[in-house]
Amino acid sequence: MVEGKKVLLGISGSIAAYLACDLVRRLIKAGAQVQVIMTAGAKEFITPLTLQTLTGRPVIQGLFDEVKQWDVEHVGAAQWADVFVIAPATANVMAKLARGLADDSLSATFLACTKPKVIAPAMNTAMYENPATRENEALLKKRGCLIVEPQSGLLACGDTGKGKLADTDLIFQHIEYALQKEKPLQGISLLVTAGPTRETIDPVRFISNLSSGRMGYAIAYQAWLLGAEVTLVSGPVDLPPPPPCRMINVNSAAEMAAAVLQAAPSAQIIIKAAAVADYTPKIKAQHKIKKQEGELSLELTRTTDILAALGQQKQPGQVLVGFAAETEGLLEHAKAKLIKKNADLLAANDLTSPGSGFGVATNQLLLLWADGKSRELALMTKEEAARQLLLAAREIWQNKNTI
Ligand code: CTP
Repeated sequence: MVEGKKVLLGISGSIAAYLACDLVRRLIKAGAQVQVIMTAGAKEFITPLTLQTLTGRPVIQGLFDEVKQWDVEHVGAAQWADVFVIAPATANVMAKLARGLADDSLSATFLACTKPKVIAPAMNTAMYENPATRENEALLKKRGCLIVEPQSGLLACGDTGKGKLADTDLIFQHIEYALQKEKPLQGISLLVTAGPTRETIDPVRFISNLSSGRMGYAIAYQAWLLGAEVTLVSGPVDLPPPPPCRMINVNSAAEMAAAVLQAAPSAQIIIKAAAVADYTPKIKAQHKIKKQEGELSLELTRTTDILAALGQQKQPGQVLVGFAAETEGLLEHAKAKLIKKNADLLAANDLTSPGSGFGVATNQLLLLWADGKSRELALMTKEEAARQLLLAAREIWQNKNTI
């Protein structure tokens, strides 16, 4: 999404200015071109040389400095950009941007820029909560700017509260969101499950599987980028944070079943990407099981098949998407699951094929529709596969909901 895109990054005078360097690195690594504009205040915290070195481009500074890249620097930069990001944005800069002042390079370029804008505020809590700042932020929001809310925590000034610059990951996600112009899932609430489940044997042991959660998280992220309201029910995973969404963390198959069945009635599209345990120990030992001579058998009982339960209570117009993880007989097993569980779409993957399945960044999906249609997707990143799957689900949703 960010690859090949031109990002104009305005840095203003907050101690969080040094964190902008991390954002620049992240954007450059993702293949973006970054042009930095610094206010006089920003230069008190970090030097233009740092940013010039990181971006490979001279930093735009004073409004009346010698022109370096464009005939009229602030207008040229505004036209060059695909997206304009202000991170960190101080209270003063937000006030200027909200009121349309243009007395320095950053504010003048902002006023001249018609591209999507992302603003990540950072300041003292009282300043952030001041009605003046609240009003300025609301005004910027109303005019279409995406605000990446600051986080709560210990601030550099010693206070504790809201005002810390949002994490680089979150700002990066919002930049991608701003760059994604078409939002075909706007207005759709989408429920997705991800990761493995853990079935407790005793206080220190469990049964689980190799699912990393990457496919489910990629679906959640892409669905958010495409405009959906996302609820993510996740088993235990070790992944970077998901996109801004309603997040429900669970451990066991029973917990996942309870969370999903509760959230399902308000979802228009449900995607079951989690690798749910089919069996759980019949008795969960209160204390650590001690080893003894001879063999040990664990008695297991079946868990709820969540997808099948959702299939039974599917509402008119609702779209149900399942996965099938197979090591043999991909097509037959996947077809059987699609029918048995009353899904509308099934994404099957062969766990034995290189680049597919658990733990890797790529996937090769075979999509099966309830009407017998099928499509084999090429080997692609899980992000791309997620997008293809979402567009297919959205088409079914549209067909079901068009009178
Ligand atoms: N699934 C589920 N609840 C379970 C087991 C599976 O909701 N208790 C869902 C998975 O999230 C997936 C689909 O059912 O969307 C197929 O899962 P998979 O593990 O491939 O198949 P199973 O139905 O478990 O069948 P089998 O283990 O026999 O392959």
